[in-house]
Amino acid sequence: MRSYKAKAVEPIRLPDRDARTEALDAAGHNVFNLDSEDVYVDLLTDSGTGTMSDEQWAALMRGDEAYAGSSSFSRLRSAVEDVMGFEHVVPTHQGRGAENVLYGTLVEEGDVVLNNTHFDTTRAHVANQGAEAVDCPVDGAWDRSVEGDFLGNFDVEKGRAVAEEVGAENVPVVVTTITNNSAAGQPVSLENIRATANLADELDAWFVIDACRFAENAHFVQARESGQRDRSLAAIAREQLSYADAVTMSGKKDGLVNIGGFAAMRDDDLFEHAKQRAILYEGFPTYGGLAGRDIEAMAVGLREAVEPPYVDERVEQVATLGELLSEAEIPIVTPTGGHAVYVDAGELLPHIPTEEFPGQRLVCELYREGAVRSVELGSFAFPGADRPDYVRLAVPRRTYWREHLEHVAETAAAVREKREEYVGLEIVEEPPMKELRHFSARLESVEE
Ligand code: F0G
Repeated sequence: MRSYKAKAVEPIRLPDRDARTEALDAAGHNVFNLDSEDVYVDLLTDSGTGTMSDEQWAALMRGDEAYAGSSSFSRLRSAVEDVMGFEHVVPTHQGRGAENVLYGTLVEEGDVVLNNTHFDTTRAHVANQGAEAVDCPVDGAWDRSVEGDFLGNFDVEKGRAVAEEVGAENVPVVVTTITNNSAAGQPVSLENIRATANLADELDAWFVIDACRFAENAHFVQARESGQRDRSLAAIAREQLSYADAVTMSGKKDGLVNIGGFAAMRDDDLFEHAKQRAILYEGFPTYGGLAGRDIEAMAVGLREAVEPPYVDERVEQVATLGELLSEAEIPIVTPTGGHAVYVDAGELLPHIPTEEFPGQRLVCELYREGAVRSVELGSFAFPGADRPDYVRLAVPRRTYWREHLEHVAETAAAVREKREEYVGLEIVEEPPMKELRHFSARLESVEE
């Protein structure tokens, strides 16, 4: 059952097979180069692609566009305080802006930053400071054959060992990312957040939570962690964040908006420093690179994100996509995480070697077969990394209906039928920065 109905609709269309093949060729087998008009179900990302509520649309009208002292900012500040428990807020244009503001303030050259798994932009901001980003995922986080309730957890022992090796004085920040996007969107337990906070304390480091999907994480804590079932989602959401000194937030996820983000913190001095950096890179600290109306929508969205039954339906919808794909015998990571289903393309297309990007081949064929857009998160996106060739199907919030998900599963089944026919891909054109190649590189089928 859905607890909402549509009030505005956006037409989508399924181009015919010839048009899809033509679009794929023109895009150089890279779905980032497709026109979204040529996509029927767009599961490229859950970031900024969701549907706002009528309350959010109404709030846009209230936007106070004053350069300084905007009342929209006051409403955001109240929402962040009520929902997340932080007094100080620095709005930013999106999550990576918050990372720049916070890590630009806390991290220096030669430092080491620990994280359960750094999301790409987090890693890049740490690197941009001349520091090293070290991942501390639990064993099994990358292994499809391992099932667990909280595979997104931070491996505290691993973190402690790294800190001992490099010296605690060189670890200014310990981060945990909830849910753990880079580990198949798996959740992090409250117990683990507490243990990670203790580690940060031991190291005399700041403890930061990347809170992009904090409401989805709270859903899993409520459903899976002992003693949590009878607590409200809002209380759990707040408790998770209560152990952190600061958060970085992309409003494009659990802020339920199309654009926006913020950093929030408790320490007065850190707040002052973060504001200075925000002025340089984002804007005056009461608008942070956003229109007042965007800030209004985010203030409403944050409150909606922890109001039942929104997040339960959201996570269940992702699980439904997982079930439909499993029924179609598509190898996926189970249990499914909060925002996306991850398909193991290496397992689906074992005859395509990693160097020929089985994940990207799957992404291309999901498009050719059903105009479904997904994203590769394996050897193409992360050159040289020791990761499985996963393809992510991220579900935008409050946007698609079951019929769309059925179409995705039918499309995947059709691809599976033809799996032996597919060949690998090779890169024929790529940008200078290897780390960013998946956004713009062009590929061709390898000669048989
Ligand atoms: N942290 C995490 C865990 C993220 O998933 C993202 C974005 C960011 C930070 C950066 O936020 O995009 O607002 O600047 N993830 C998107 C995705 C892009 O598709 O997973 P942003």
